[in-house]
Parts: sequence; C-alpha cells; structure tokens
Amino acid sequence: MPDIESLLKEKRVFKPDPAAARAANWNRKTVDAHRRLGERDPQRFWAKMAREHVSWFSPWKKVLVWKPPFAKWFVGGKTNVSYNCLDRHLEGEHGWRRNKAAIIWEGEPGDQRVLTFGQLHREVCKFANVLKSQGVKKGDRVAIYMPMIPELAIAMLACTRIGAPHSVVFGGFSAEALRERINDVGAKLVVTADGGYRRGEAYALKPAVDEALRGCKGVESVVMVQRTGQPTNFVAGRDRWWHELMEDASADCKPAKLDAEHPLFVLYTSGSTGKPKGILHTTGGYLTHVTTTSKAIFDLKEDDTYWCTADCGWITGHSYVVYGILANGATTLMYEGVPTHPGPDRFWDIIERHRVSIFYTAPTAIRTFIRLGDEHPKKHDLSSLRLLGTVGEPINPEAWMWYHRVIGGKRCPIVDTWWQTETGGIAITPLPGAVATKPGSATLPFPGIDAEVLGEDGEPVEPPNGGLLVLRKPWPGMLRGIWGDPKRYREQYWSKFPKTYFAGDGAHRDGDGYFWIMGRVDDVMNISGHRIGTMEVESALVSHDEVAEAAVIGRDDEITGTAIVAFVTPKGNATPSDALKVALRNHVTRQIGAIAKPKEIRFTDALPKTRSGKIMRRLLRDIAAGREQVGDTSTLEDYSVLAKLRDSDEG
Ligand code: PRX
Repeated sequence: MPDIESLLKEKRVFKPDPAAARAANWNRKTVDAHRRLGERDPQRFWAKMAREHVSWFSPWKKVLVWKPPFAKWFVGGKTNVSYNCLDRHLEGEHGWRRNKAAIIWEGEPGDQRVLTFGQLHREVCKFANVLKSQGVKKGDRVAIYMPMIPELAIAMLACTRIGAPHSVVFGGFSAEALRERINDVGAKLVVTADGGYRRGEAYALKPAVDEALRGCKGVESVVMVQRTGQPTNFVAGRDRWWHELMEDASADCKPAKLDAEHPLFVLYTSGSTGKPKGILHTTGGYLTHVTTTSKAIFDLKEDDTYWCTADCGWITGHSYVVYGILANGATTLMYEGVPTHPGPDRFWDIIERHRVSIFYTAPTAIRTFIRLGDEHPKKHDLSSLRLLGTVGEPINPEAWMWYHRVIGGKRCPIVDTWWQTETGGIAITPLPGAVATKPGSATLPFPGIDAEVLGEDGEPVEPPNGGLLVLRKPWPGMLRGIWGDPKRYREQYWSKFPKTYFAGDGAHRDGDGYFWIMGRVDDVMNISGHRIGTMEVESALVSHDEVAEAAVIGRDDEITGTAIVAFVTPKGNATPSDALKVALRNHVTRQIGAIAKPKEIRFTDALPKTRSGKIMRRLLRDIAAGREQVGDTSTLEDYSVLAKLRDSDEG
C-alpha cells in the first residue's frame, strides 16, 4: 500500500467556521452527544434518529434483530418512503411546504420544470395508480431505465408508494446489461423514455429496451415517457405512453403501510467476479439512514437549494438526489445532461441561476474542471454556495484545495463522504459544524457507525500502517443481501472477518483517528466514481469472436481516477490491428456500456499466469504503469511472457 506515506504528509487542517458551526443542524455539542450514544448503544442512537427523522404508521417492536450476517431493523414498524418524502410535507406543522419546490429540473437543452411538493405528490399518486392499472402489485419488481428527467424520480417514488421494489438501471448501460438486470431481478414492468439529451444531441433509449426484452418473458408492459419526440418503435399490447396513461389516472392513492423490512429497491453494482450483484435495500432502516445523514452532513435547511450531480442510476442518485433530500422537505435540483454543454461552464451557470447553496459531486468531475481552467467558474457568481461535498473515490489533496479555493471561495466546508451501494448511506464523513477537515481524508465515522481498519490478523492496525476497511456493527442502511444469492452475500462481505462487514477498500488512520481511503483491494476498478469489475470487462472481451483470452486491469488516470487497460490474446486466425481494437472497444460498449470501454488495448500472445492458471494481474499493473521493476514473479509459470508483454503494442 504504497501511497500511505505521501498522504501522511498532508498537514493542512480546516476548522469549522465558528459562526457557521453554531448555526449548523448538528453543532459540536449535538455531535459529541450523538457520538457518545452511538458508541455506547448504537441501537438506541439509531432508534432516536428513526423517531426524529422518520414518520411511522406504527412503531417497531424491536430495534434490531441481528443474526449475522442478516440484520432486521425496526422490526414490526410500519412506514412508507413516499409518505415521508411527500405527504408529510403537505399536512400539519410542515403543511406550508405544499407550494415549496421539491424538484427543480433542468434539461440539457435548457428547458426547465419545477415541481412543488404538492405537484410532485399528485404526479406520484397518479403514476402509482398507473402501475396498479398495469397489474403491478406489492412485491412485484419494476425496472426503470431513463434519462435524468423528473419522471425518473416520480417513477421511483410511485414504486415505493405501493411497495413495488424498483431496480433503476443507469441509462448509459447497454441492452445486454439491461437484459441481465431485468432477468435477474424478475421485473414485471419497465419504465423508460424514447430517449434523452446528452452532449447536445438526442440519444435513443427505447431500442435498447426492445433489444433487452427480446426473449425475456417476465416483462408484461413497458411505459414510455416522450422526452425527445424522436420516431420510436412501439410494440402493440406491450408498450404504452406515459402521458396517455397519466391522463386518465386518479390522483388519489393511499401510501401502502409497509413493513420496515419490506424490500425497497435492488440496485446492481459490480463485483470482483462474474455478474453484477443486485444489492437489496429495505424500507425503514434505509430511510432512517439517508434522512438522518442528509440532515446532518449536508446541514439541510428550509431555504437551501441542494444539487447533487449524480444520476439516479447510481446509489448516490437514490439516497442523495431523491430519498434523503425529499424526506427532509428540502429542494433538490436535477440536471439531465453533461457538465460541458453547451460550454465548459454549464455547472457554474446552473449554480448561479438557481442560487444553489449545497453542491455534491464526484472527484472525477472536479479534476475535469481543473483541467478546463479556472476562468469558467470565475465567470459566474458562486456566492450562493455554502457547503460542498464529494463522493465516489478518493479525492487527491490538490483537487480538494482547488474545490475549496475556486468553487468554495475558501468559505465553504467540504464534506468528503465515504460510502458504497452496499452501505445505503454515508458512513465516514466530516460533519460541517463539528469536524475539522484535512484535504484527502473522509475524516471520521458517522455517529452510530463502527468503522475500523484491520490487518490480515483481524486486529486494528496502528498508524501509519494501512489495512482493510471494515464496519464492525450492523447499521440501518446496510444491504440486506444480494438479490437471490445469500451465499454470495455471505462470502463477499462477511467471510474475511467474523461478524464484520468487509467493504473491499484499503484505508489507514492517522494519529487523530482520521480515515484515509486508499481505494479497492479487490479486482474492482473505480472508473469516474463507478465500480466496474475486471471480470465483467474480460467476459465482454472474450465474448467477441476474435478474442481467445483477455485480462483487464486499472491504471492511474489523471481525470477518471482509473483507466481500463485490456491485455488481449486474439484467436489464432485473427490479426491484431487497430481496426480490431476499435471493434473490441465498440463490443464492450455494446455489452456493458461506454463506461467500461478500455482506454488502452494491448495485444499479446500470452498472459502471465501462475501454475494453477490464475492471471497475475499485479504484473500486468506494473507493466501498464510502465514500471521496469515488476513485483515478485516466483509463482509465474512462464517467464518469457513478461518480456513479450513489455513489447506488446501500446495505444
Ligand atoms: O472504493 C470506494 C469508493 O467507491 C466505492 C463504492 O462505490 P459505489 O458502490 O459505486 O458507490 C459510490 C457512491 C457512494 C467504495 O468502495 N468511494 C466512495 N466514496 C469514497 C470512495 N473512496 C474514497 N473516498 C470517498 N469519499
């Protein structure tokens, strides 16, 4: 774990501004009290949070039933996520929020829509009735494959209203990836759109749905939003327009009183082996976790305009574009397109025009903006900003400093939040009113979260040594399993250390107990803040007719954090060529999506393997990084492979 030392040289500390800290939702005193309770009695702490932040139809009987590795939170309690995000802002004490903006949306071409809590509630009720009219019942799964338009949030919330778990598939994924997810989750209905806007052009989504559904039996109907108006294939008897169904739908739909452990959604994420894992989250615990963390970490206030740039196809979009923010009655901004259209200042323009006060984005975006130049943010008035956040990958201290200086005007605290699809909500993070930040560190665990860094022996490592990041006690937002695969759930997360959740990340702690996340220790790459398994890309490559074998690794990349490098052995009759490289890149895009497209492909007639046939990725990493001295090669079966690999074609 070589970068420990360099990170430890980071000595800059930023203390919370005293006035802002006093005004924070969670000031120093609150945080101290919560930490103490969270350590002494995490169940009591989370029960207190569940009472304070979530509305329940009936109270729970037991806070936690923990049969490792299976947890149940707030057992016997009944609630509903859409009720918490909508109805409770229309009645009683907060009833005045009816005409407050819930979603401020901007399309890439510049079109805008604002939905108040009252309007959003109406749309969600109507769409919930549409789902029912299409035969969707409590427990049925709904796949959602859409651009970032308000209907995406409406569809998600409507599913939660009737207790139909949703599975959102990122619109950038291919037909193949969509089919795999629809089949695995057993979806009954697909919500999609004709297309969306990206980089100034209308792209199509529906053809991928048509292709995915070919030969797929479970899906009975498709509901399609007309976003672009492009000519679209329509399958009679199966496909229906969103706007036509909504016209006749009643706006009266009572939220289902759901068990706290009722499945809320399944979201697929990459693992180190084989197919993507369907991460299962349930209702009461997840809602408690995301609502509490949103309020405390983003310090959400009534008059904030909060913008998280993530797509709802990822966990960040679930927890911190939609659920955690709306449950707090806060205004969430959604943007459809890319950061650089029509110009490199689109984000700053949005912040200025909507007076965004809280901005949450990914380090890869920040690095892109640094490269584009300071003049773009400087052209805009960013004085509305008061808090910044990052998520998805480690942020290098210099990028943190740039964010602090150029975007935050040196006055905004930065919350570098560590978490995962599996954790449901933020787990390690600064609290803006109480925790001093250090550039590059996610600082300390959220109260009630028991994070630690362990050595291979299962003991906490002493600073400055690095080790494996774990969570030692169950937490309410934790995944409840992998959809349909309890064995994999156990093996993947709970087999490394007894009764302890292993996150798959390396980390170390400094003398103040601060966490410094060092990235994945397994065969998962983090590309622009999104997890892609090496195996997935390899499977995609070898499914091409001209490929015999492939090994994929990640190499450091200035913008995306990691870039994919593929070592490919073509079949005997195939000719390695630039044309084949292009074909392979396109093939991976078709199989998985553009996000998994290798940046570099190298042809080689052999891969370095151990005697037992395992590919030695470590050596490939050294070679891809251009390191002369490769690590230990004593288990390598054929030494001549190394020399050949070094000569392998670059580019
Ligand atoms: O490696 C860690 C990295 O992203 C992984 C989780 O990816 P995913 O499930 O796609 O969720 C991303 C958004 C929550 C983690 O295992 N990661 C996430 N946040 C950070 C991070 N690495 C360092 N610092 C972070 N703040």
